[in-house]
Amino acid sequence: MKTEGGSETAKRNAGERAAEEVTDGSVVGLGTGSTAAYAIEAIGQAVHDGLDVQGIPTSFQSRQLALEVGIPLTSLDAVDGVDLAIDGADQVRDDPSPNADADSNATTDADANATADTASALIKGGGGAHAREKLVAAAADRFVVVADPSKLVPELDRSVPVEILPAAHTTVAERVRELGGEPTLRDAEHKDGPVVTDNGNLILDVAFGPIDSPAELAPTLAAIPGVVEHGLFIGLADATYVGTADGVEKRTY
Ligand code: 5RP
Repeated sequence: MKTEGGSETAKRNAGERAAEEVTDGSVVGLGTGSTAAYAIEAIGQAVHDGLDVQGIPTSFQSRQLALEVGIPLTSLDAVDGVDLAIDGADQVRDDPSPNADADSNATTDADANATADTASALIKGGGGAHAREKLVAAAADRFVVVADPSKLVPELDRSVPVEILPAAHTTVAERVRELGGEPTLRDAEHKDGPVVTDNGNLILDVAFGPIDSPAELAPTLAAIPGVVEHGLFIGLADATYVGTADGVEKRTY
């Protein structure tokens, strides 16, 4: 269920630009995936250059990378709050309204005032880390999404990753079918059987086709007994940094 496509330059530009938002003395949520990894590497470089920051990883993968690049780590229960979370996404509903700024990596921000009357909407969980990712994003004062242009869509239509208790895989599958979804238990690639998340759970990837109203589907999925967390992130993101070949375009919400 990993996201395909997107140039490494675009991902790097987005990740490095978001890392510039990390301020001295702050607590930062460290997202999961190949785009967030560029942000983590850039934060590691800034720590090496003297930045004082504490990171909260959202997965085994982001923890390993943060340790590798020298970011001091903490946990949600050891801090008063999270200043900023940076994370990738599998799909970002792109609002064609003019809340978009093009800025190169070298220019200062000219944040557009967020006047969007539609909440930000994302699908996450391609890497199966969406439960902790949502926890950290929701705890953060500010949540910035990093993406390449292949992630922007007018309407969310990828399968929605749903992390479930192992004992609930048949009952949740039945309930999402009743909602019009087609569930597939996510299989591991280098292990027989299903993917087991960092939390010891399983994942159903649920195909709904185009999702007309993600804000309605999100609480419906969350209310199914046995669902730990799903990958619809509604109204959590404050901005998306879309990397391009030579800079970054910013969407604010
Ligand atoms: C992991 C995620 C990732 O952020 C998402 O899959 C995007 O990854 P990438 O930047 O590698 O395309 O949600 O659960």
